[in-house]
Amino acid sequence: MRIGVPKEPTPGQTLVAATPDTVKKLIKLGYQVLVERGAGEKAAYLDEQYSQAGAEIVDTQAAWQADIVTVLDTPPTDYLNLVKPGALLIARMAPGRHPETVDALVERGITGFAMDTVPRISRAQSMDVLSSMSNVSGYRAVIEAAESFGRLFTGQVTAAGKIPPAKVYVIGVGVAGLAAIGTANSMGAQVSATDVRSETAEQAESVGATFVPIPIAQEKSDDGYAKEMSADQADAATKLYTEQAAANDIVITTANIPGRRSPLLITKEAVAAMAPGSVIVDMAAAGGGNCELTRPGEKVVTENGVTIIGYTDLAGRLPGQSSQLYGQNIVNLLKLITPEKDGNYVLDMKDEVVRGITIAKDGENMFPPPPIKVHAAPAPEKTESVADAAETARKKAEEEASKKRKRLLWATVGIVLGLALIAATPKPLIPYYFILMLAIVVGFYVITSVTHSLHTPLMSETNAISGIILVGAILQVGSANPLVSTLSFLAILVASINIFGGFSVTHRMLTMFRGEEK
Ligand code: NAI
Repeated sequence: MRIGVPKEPTPGQTLVAATPDTVKKLIKLGYQVLVERGAGEKAAYLDEQYSQAGAEIVDTQAAWQADIVTVLDTPPTDYLNLVKPGALLIARMAPGRHPETVDALVERGITGFAMDTVPRISRAQSMDVLSSMSNVSGYRAVIEAAESFGRLFTGQVTAAGKIPPAKVYVIGVGVAGLAAIGTANSMGAQVSATDVRSETAEQAESVGATFVPIPIAQEKSDDGYAKEMSADQADAATKLYTEQAAANDIVITTANIPGRRSPLLITKEAVAAMAPGSVIVDMAAAGGGNCELTRPGEKVVTENGVTIIGYTDLAGRLPGQSSQLYGQNIVNLLKLITPEKDGNYVLDMKDEVVRGITIAKDGENMFPPPPIKVHAAPAPEKTESVADAAETARKKAEEEASKKRKRLLWATVGIVLGLALIAATPKPLIPYYFILMLAIVVGFYVITSVTHSLHTPLMSETNAISGIILVGAILQVGSANPLVSTLSFLAILVASINIFGGFSVTHRMLTMFRGEEK
């Protein structure tokens, strides 16, 4: 069968549905690939590269009349009319929002695969175009923010003074949000994030953000997507977002509820309370926007100097890699439906991925597919009512108070013991206690600030110090003063544990490196 890769008919689209690399992979599956002349130009893929990969360069007509046609989005009617009846059209078609697209395919007898309805299950991840485009877009959102911010992201201490790191706040920890957190974190910003789905806290923290929960948590999702919030939850969320917007330099909003208008999170009052020079990137601009002042497709600066970026083509601003990812998603889909690798596809409607993306087949409307239940995270958590939330907050406060009391008790015991020790110590030895205390404080901060990669040199250092302690303690252990001899004995014991323990750990690590560990 022949796969057609037309030049994108949608104005402004910079992506192409196949790259020279993915063309090679399609050919390996037994297909013949026809690429329209100039199809990859905007993504910097030239016709010669496609030819070298094994594609045939053709005109518009031939590309659209292939057995399988792959494009980015639903083609305009003029182009849809070029597709032959019985052909397979692969594109993002948003059938939920555009039922007329399904009707148009049914009328023409075209089989439609909507790439944006791939179910969110692990087996389908490699075909999920929404995820691959959101990933690139999340990265680009941070780059756009950095360009408009006009200050450094990373904190620095220079001879001319200290520069604080930029504070980035991400709302919505889905695919785009996670990519934005990771990017901002790697650029040195101080990142925090919020999502209504409590299961995202761990994911946000794993890529370097501090999770800021909404005081009233939402129910767990059973399909990996958020549901609409109750009035209580929405109020608590708006209050939190307003506070966070004022406290951060950059706000990146990615909140999205499938099939609904994007939730409104940043009100114009919240924008007014932000510092001049702050930036909002509203990634949900195309779906109505998460910020009240967003203008889809535009960058605007408010009266109080806040830049609001509402670009809806963030992935298109990195067309080379976005096209590669989109093309690879299509290769993965074709791998699934071409089990024999003979250039002929088989539609197995019992396969939940194939069924999930088929919106029209043999003149029949196949949308919506039967629902697939997916648990995004294993442990279920119940929704908290306002009363439950208050009870949880009270318990938390009690726990905190009891912890404080315990800490105070231990500190008092420590101080009393310390004073007793000082009282029992001969006067000339007392200054050593102060040195010891200072050493403990400095040592605590030094050791807790050392990064993991430096733990081995740190261990060697402490071994060396323990060696010195051991020698000193051996010299003092025979002292006539019982206090000195007891302390020396303790020092010998503790330093020996450190030295011999250190040697045994080093020995074990070396054995592991040599691969001799059983
Ligand atoms: P996703 O569904 O993976 O993530 C959205 C996240 O928002 C979910 O984790 C959800 O729980 C959370 N959320 C929903 N309502 C919320 C609320 N009120 N408060 C806090 N969190 C809330 O979606 P994905 O793939 O990360 O995309 C995010 C958005 O970015 C979508 O609106 C998508 O259309 C848009 N997008 C925009 C692009 C552009 O060029 N501007 C390109 C790609 C995606």
